[in-house]
Amino acid sequence: MMLHNLDSHHAVEDNYIFPKFHQKSEKFRYGLELLENDHHLIHQSIDILTSEGNKIIRTLNEKKDIDHKLLIGSYSKVNDNFDKLLIAHLHDEEDLLIPLVSEYGEEYFGLGH
Ligand SMILES: [Fe+2]
Repeated sequence: MMLHNLDSHHAVEDNYIFPKFHQKSEKFRYGLELLENDHHLIHQSIDILTSEGNKIIRTLNEKKDIDHKLLIGSYSKVNDNFDKLLIAHLHDEEDLLIPLVSEYGEEYFGLGH
């Protein structure tokens, strides 16, 4: 569910919010490419998380005597990679978007209520 919501959130950013910043600010051109690339990497990571999670579920169902710690440990690395990407992306967004919103205001980007 969280991964689905993240996917929807990125679709809104890619299709609605980022283009507004791109149209209004020359300074945001590099930022747009960076954030869209972040989204691409995050979505690849979501695919890996999903397939590796499904593998673990299948393995746990098929092999009752398997070492659970070993199995979960391998998934932990996949999850850590996802966490690092997502946190770095959130920092990228804060670093790139917040200064522009602070400088011009939400209304300038059509983001006001
Ligand atoms: Fe994002």
